[in-house]
Amino acid sequence: MIPVHIRAILGLLLFTLLITRASAWELQWYGQSAFKITTPENKVILIDPFITQNPVTPEKLKNLDKLGNIDLVLVTHGHGDHLGDTAKIVEMTQAKVGLNADMGQTLSTLGLVPEDRIIGFNKSGSIQPLKGITVTMVHADHSSDIVHENHVYSGGEPAGFIIELENDYRIYHAGDTGVFGDMQYIANYYKPDLALLPIGGHYTMDPAHAAYAVNNLLKIKTVIPIHYGTFPPLKGTPEAFKKALGDTSTKVIVMKPGEVIKF
Ligand code: NI
Repeated sequence: MIPVHIRAILGLLLFTLLITRASAWELQWYGQSAFKITTPENKVILIDPFITQNPVTPEKLKNLDKLGNIDLVLVTHGHGDHLGDTAKIVEMTQAKVGLNADMGQTLSTLGLVPEDRIIGFNKSGSIQPLKGITVTMVHADHSSDIVHENHVYSGGEPAGFIIELENDYRIYHAGDTGVFGDMQYIANYYKPDLALLPIGGHYTMDPAHAAYAVNNLLKIKTVIPIHYGTFPPLKGTPEAFKKALGDTSTKVIVMKPGEVIKF
């Protein structure tokens, strides 16, 4: 017979475990801007799935057959290192693709993604592509042409995403972007918990710009630097980013390509 107070403690432990389990989720980085999110309700979201041609993605992750079920792919803009394996993944899974409406039209017109799999939307627009999950498109300062079989096509406007999970946790994936003043609006309006920010420079913010964005505009709790170390021009490093941030309350999580972190 277990004494009452021990039973109460055990019950509390079990309850805590269940609550923690219910809200736990995972983030995996493939390098560049490619992430896999496994949500608290076990939905799987890929963002900018540049995987098979990604020079820093571990070889064992390049086999798309091993991706498993994918519910949603989000694409920030039309460049090859973001659009990546989207067409192949859509073919292999039941995934829908959330992206700007113009890029959606280009992809369906080219026969790369069937029209009925595309969720085209635009900035300030929100979609609920999966039960309990809201994705809102936000501004990014960049470009977005698509190159397909040696022709250039319109990729519409580049974007970032605010992804709200079932447990209300909000992720800001900035896409490729330079600094812009409305990052402050994004912080104030959407109150993201985590920002995935490019730091490589050349095509996007470098460490100094990203640090300015964090310290003065986003004032975010947690940041993960992305879009560096993949190609020679992307010279920014997490060390330079941390140095540029200086004394800050923002937590910087530096991931290795292939690494999974649990929240
Ligand atoms: Ni780009």
